[in-house]
Amino acid sequence: MAVIRNSAEHQQKVYERWAPVYDRVYRGLLRDGHRTVARLAAEVGRDILEVGVGTGLVLPYYPKHCRVTGIDLSEHMIAKAREKVARAGLAHVQSLHVMDAHNLEFADRSFDAVCLPFVITLIPDPERALDECARVLHSGGEIIVASKLGDGRGLQGAIEEAVAPLVHRVGWSSSFRIARIVEWAKRRGDFEVAEIRRVFPNGFFKVIRLKHRMAA
Ligand SMILES: C[S@@+](CC[C@H](N)C(=O)[O-])C[C@H]1O[C@@H](n2cnc3c(N)ncnc32)[C@H](O)[C@@H]1O
Repeated sequence: MAVIRNSAEHQQKVYERWAPVYDRVYRGLLRDGHRTVARLAAEVGRDILEVGVGTGLVLPYYPKHCRVTGIDLSEHMIAKAREKVARAGLAHVQSLHVMDAHNLEFADRSFDAVCLPFVITLIPDPERALDECARVLHSGGEIIVASKLGDGRGLQGAIEEAVAPLVHRVGWSSSFRIARIVEWAKRRGDFEVAEIRRVFPNGFFKVIRLKHRMAA
């Protein structure tokens, strides 16, 4: 297995380059995942945190009654998101912050849903970031993750593994396994995998809903 050195500095450098062109490249490809994440989050409640908000492509899809907070490591991506919010008058977006998913600067139990669209595979310590998401989530809330989440099986798994070092250079990850998220939920014991949904294109991306179990 190839060793990939991931770091906040690497992600910041890569996404500084992506910021000016990101929407043109990704808007269509990720639209189904973006819409699905926003709809599922709004079904849980009004107060939503989006981790790795990027240029804000998901923001217009949240219903207007929601109160959305976004964070991202890259000030260049967040600047694009701020432009979008101002241009489109997205009044349901409460605030956008430069922040690291490993250290969320929010009080415990602040949000009904925490979304991670197309970011979990890029975070150096995804379990710690998920623990942070769990901490800021209300009891009974949901963490909703969308990404390229493979199972590592067969020829596709082998190819994903082989190209991982290449795609890492452009801020992608091909070899992240969905089992890592499922195992995280199992280990904690207070989350269950409520659903795994395949989205465009042809199930290449997946959305996974992690529901917090309320204490009896
Ligand atoms: C592929 S983009 C996805 C952006 C947006 N969620 C979307 O779906 O269009 C990944 C984003 O995650 C951000 N990111 C990477 N590592 C992060 C971390 N540790 N904490 C917060 N954001 C991070 C990057 O800066 C980038 O904006």
